[in-house]
Amino acid sequence: MNKINSKGLLTGAIALFLLVAAAVTKAQDIIIPVETKDNALVLQVTPEKALNMVYFGGKLTDRNEYAATAKAFNFGGTIGTYNGAYTTSGTGNLVEPAIAVTHADGNKSLELRYISHIVKKIDDNVSLLSITLKDAVYDFEVTLNYQTYYNENVTEQWSVIKHHEKNDVVLNKYASANLCIHANSYWLKHYHGDWAQEMRPEDEQLNHGMKTLDSKLGSRADLFQPPTFMVSFNKTATEDEGEVMYGNLEWSGNFRIDFEVDPANNLRLVAGINNFAADYTLKPGLEFETPKFVYTLTSKGKGEASRNLQSWARKYKIVDGNGPRLTLLNNWESTYFDFNEDKLAGLLKDTKKLGVDLFLLDDGWFGNKYPRNGDHAGLGDWQANKAKLPNDIAFLTKEAKADGVKFGIWIEPEMVNPKSELYEKHPDWVVKQPQRPEIYMRNQLVLDLTNPKVQDFVFGIVDNLFTKNPDLAYIKWDCNSVIFNAYSSYEKHQANFYTDYVRGLYNVLDRIRAKYPSVPLMLCSGGGGRVDYGALKYFTEYWLSDNTEPVERVFIQWEYSYFYPALTSSNHVTDWGKQPIKFRVDVAMMGKLGFDIVIGKLKPAELEFCQGAVNTYKQFSEEIWHGDQYRLQDPRENDVAAIMYVNPEKTTAIMFNYLVNPRYGAGSNAPIRLKGLNPDKMYTINEVNVFPGTRSTIKEGSYSGKFLMTIGLNPDVHQRRTSVLVSVKAN
Ligand code: DGJ
Repeated sequence: MNKINSKGLLTGAIALFLLVAAAVTKAQDIIIPVETKDNALVLQVTPEKALNMVYFGGKLTDRNEYAATAKAFNFGGTIGTYNGAYTTSGTGNLVEPAIAVTHADGNKSLELRYISHIVKKIDDNVSLLSITLKDAVYDFEVTLNYQTYYNENVTEQWSVIKHHEKNDVVLNKYASANLCIHANSYWLKHYHGDWAQEMRPEDEQLNHGMKTLDSKLGSRADLFQPPTFMVSFNKTATEDEGEVMYGNLEWSGNFRIDFEVDPANNLRLVAGINNFAADYTLKPGLEFETPKFVYTLTSKGKGEASRNLQSWARKYKIVDGNGPRLTLLNNWESTYFDFNEDKLAGLLKDTKKLGVDLFLLDDGWFGNKYPRNGDHAGLGDWQANKAKLPNDIAFLTKEAKADGVKFGIWIEPEMVNPKSELYEKHPDWVVKQPQRPEIYMRNQLVLDLTNPKVQDFVFGIVDNLFTKNPDLAYIKWDCNSVIFNAYSSYEKHQANFYTDYVRGLYNVLDRIRAKYPSVPLMLCSGGGGRVDYGALKYFTEYWLSDNTEPVERVFIQWEYSYFYPALTSSNHVTDWGKQPIKFRVDVAMMGKLGFDIVIGKLKPAELEFCQGAVNTYKQFSEEIWHGDQYRLQDPRENDVAAIMYVNPEKTTAIMFNYLVNPRYGAGSNAPIRLKGLNPDKMYTINEVNVFPGTRSTIKEGSYSGKFLMTIGLNPDVHQRRTSVLVSVKAN
């Protein structure tokens, strides 16, 4: 080396420099921006072929500038890489992993390296980026998928795991998504609840360490905690300001969402199926596809985040999101299990009298050896009860047709009462521990949907109903029990059970949707114990809660409204609580309107009001179902809650106002600013749903959009006018 002249040294140095520069440039060349209309998530391949996430936020004008984002942040990583795009375990990473495995030989190490990526343009709005990663030692591979919905600023993320090892591999953790986000501070809003107490929000700052949202309930997995949350960055977002991300795991079973603020102050988010008691055995050559994790990001506050997610859901996720919905009369609270043909024939006539589209027959219509006259027997025996319905369901569909209304029916097909013929015939179809006492929730057990024969049976329940009753127009699908004693006599690997249960359910729902693509299905789960976008892919609407007391309901509907469009929100007018009928109906009208009251008990003015309200609802259903939603005043912060819906042309809107504070003097003591209108247009304001014999006290007339959005409108809500609906129409 000493003998090399300066020229030679220089040449060597230049060659070395060029080599290093080429390597750096090559590595830096692989910058993968995942863009939507306003945002970008940026991935980078390091010289060692690790895939890292280097940015998540507002999008840049010049895509080339994303290359500099990795250097702009300090992601840290004293013990591994904090900003891995899909963090592994058993090697250099000691933060919360997205994936953990036990290889066929018992080794637990995994190091995923970038191999390739491909972008598929599905249409003008939707693109799918797939990145393949492989381990260098084991024949094990993961594909990360990022599907973007450009105009809605929504991304769905999931992974596909496979291997070609000599024997089965056990997946100890297998997340759908792993995000690394850098901000100064993180503010989480999440939910907890129980029966009749769904969607109670809690706000907290995420400090260093782990926070986990999860469920271990198996079937009605979000009874205590839904897989739904929002995180604000730097400060808590308000309705119209601030950076906020909404997330939802599209999975109707056990889920786990980890938020880890790491030592470098990054927020590491790992979302997927809960790995609790669920180490998944994966055979060589098979693919394990995780559920999707959907999220939206905005810098303009919670309102815009909601509108993004709602319009995505209407366009891409829920069944018939751009279509109409059926108003209905349900008999659950008006009859419970006590009905017969005559009573139901009367209710069909009431359906017509009220002016709604459909009568929905609830629980109690089936079971003969063990009649379903209460919740202790009959589940599983889906034949009409001969004492109550001697002429079967056909009698009811015929009567409904004669009355000019549609007919729908309740089922709970995943469940069985021990007192049932189904249980007697097929004890091996039931989820239970073979050597332990049975544990019941609402006197029932869960059927083992991992078993294809059980899947056939459940599909058959729905298929038989439609085949025998072609006029059947609607199904309410209930699910009241969680899974105790998780054990399947069908599964070879018991730890696969929780995952395969939900996959079995989705298989059945796929088959139902293949044969009955657009029939309305309501997703119910002993109240709202199962609301997520994995299930809503198959349903047209969901039941929020058995709590229908209308003041409570304002709060419950409000919180769901952040994540789900109004046309999916089944709101029924019932006799819960002491509020007047007008308040109850006005509250139900902010989503999908239904009734569950005894029409015959209404006073003439009350009936007249309800009939008028159904008409008003029909007039504004386009705005409520498919318009843009603006929350105006939060019930948790104000005496009066206010929300409005505007059509895309900004020519028609409806505003809902509810008194939620019973204290003396509480009311709309100042105007409420409207949103989403055209400031340059003139609008006529009228109160609608005015109770017969009373008059509106608002200042009806013509106002500019500018006035309504700057000064506002006082709906004059107070103790004697507890709810007010306002029509806003462009002149
Ligand atoms: C629970 C549901 O939430 C109710 O609406 C009703 O359908 C009952 N189940 C029937 O058992």
